[in-house]
Amino acid sequence: MGRILLGVSGGIAAYKAVELVRLAGRSGHSVRVILTPAGERFVGRATFEGITGAPVLADTFELDPSRGAFPGEATPDHEPIAHLELAERCDVLAVVPASANVLARLALGLADDLLSTTALAATAPLVLAPAMNDRMWDHPATRSNVAALEARGAVIVAPGTGSLASRGEWGAGRLAEPEEILAALERAMGGAGARDAAPGALAAVPAYAPRSLDGLRVLVTAGGTREPIDAVRYVGNRSSGRMGLALAEEAAGRGAEVTIVAANVGLDAPSGVRVVAVETAAELERATRLRFTEADVLLMAAAVADFRPGAPEASKIAKAGRDGLTLELVPTVDVLGSLAAERRPGQTVVGFAAEHGEGGLDRAREKLARKGLDAIVLNDVAAPGIGFESGDNEVTVVTPSEARVVARAPKHEIAAAVLDAVESLRGGVDGAASAAPDPRPEPLR
Ligand code: CTP
Repeated sequence: MGRILLGVSGGIAAYKAVELVRLAGRSGHSVRVILTPAGERFVGRATFEGITGAPVLADTFELDPSRGAFPGEATPDHEPIAHLELAERCDVLAVVPASANVLARLALGLADDLLSTTALAATAPLVLAPAMNDRMWDHPATRSNVAALEARGAVIVAPGTGSLASRGEWGAGRLAEPEEILAALERAMGGAGARDAAPGALAAVPAYAPRSLDGLRVLVTAGGTREPIDAVRYVGNRSSGRMGLALAEEAAGRGAEVTIVAANVGLDAPSGVRVVAVETAAELERATRLRFTEADVLLMAAAVADFRPGAPEASKIAKAGRDGLTLELVPTVDVLGSLAAERRPGQTVVGFAAEHGEGGLDRAREKLARKGLDAIVLNDVAAPGIGFESGDNEVTVVTPSEARVVARAPKHEIAAAVLDAVESLRGGVDGAASAAPDPRPEPLR
């Protein structure tokens, strides 16, 4: 596990540095943050201090209450010059986002604020994740600053192409995703991340922190299916896909290879996961079935229509001449139930149940048994402020042996609780795939 010294400079993308710090902490790294004056205008100290558990520094002349120690380390009994101490102790120095201004100042070797001074003093690898407007990124001045920094050994995590902060602008300059930046930091730290290892043992340390779902293939379904009524109308539901995306992100963060079968999801997928877009229950079934054989874990978060119009019209149904319209609905295939029935030993299958009001737990238990699942995640869609379009949820993770209530929390925390349940069902954290017994519960008949 490594010590990451993170400089955050000014830019809208500074909010992504918060996510980077969260991911780094979750992977076991300790992080200290230095804010530039512009950086502090975008994200406050309290956010980083809350996540890192350590004071944030922004001014060369302020005293560091931790005296240059990283979280988990003893505070020195003398008062060192904090930025020199941090520069000395860190395993990697990162600047995320690195603004055009910071790149220029680092390229020149200026030492006129805390971050630039620290960068001059640090001997650890330097990782820079630039973010700026595409014209600034393409400017010859920026290009030559980046080239100079690279020539001196800095690692540049190249910005992506996509929509930029200014409304309607699109181009190169968008900060790389936090997972990609963390991977670059871990590569840069290499063996140096293992500060507790005996001298000489560094070569044996992997270049990244091992994670609990390394090597596992996780298939997630997300969103809600749409069943055509005619050429333009459909029968659908209110699922946004947020829960499925949170599960995918959490699984990827734990090292899994993740595929999302996304039914009409209008939100961005987390980086590093494969997305297969579908619309109808039949398409979702085909796409999920195709990938299920290869998967170790299926998380069936999509709201799949139970019925579809039996005879959708190829053209648009006109209202003229009608005083009503009756749709005949026919059942769709229960994707989850049929895949659970076909699974091979070692596959973990988790369903989701949106239940309304009282008796939900009993109905979820009945579904768990009837569909032959390892777990079912129950959420009460009657409760106000949670569920479909909301960022929060409150669920009960039901397995054959227990029902664990996860109190109302943002969906990424609910996702973490679901993945924790999956890990414990698979019988342990490391080497889960090989250690897992056949998890099929006895069907209730
Ligand atoms: N599911 C599925 N295929 C369907 C319908 C649902 O795979 N055709 C999956 C969903 O993805 C979810 C679980 O089954 O994981 C939900 O179970 P379901 O029996 O459909 O329950 P609900 O739709 O929540 O409720 P109801 O009891 O009204 O059917």
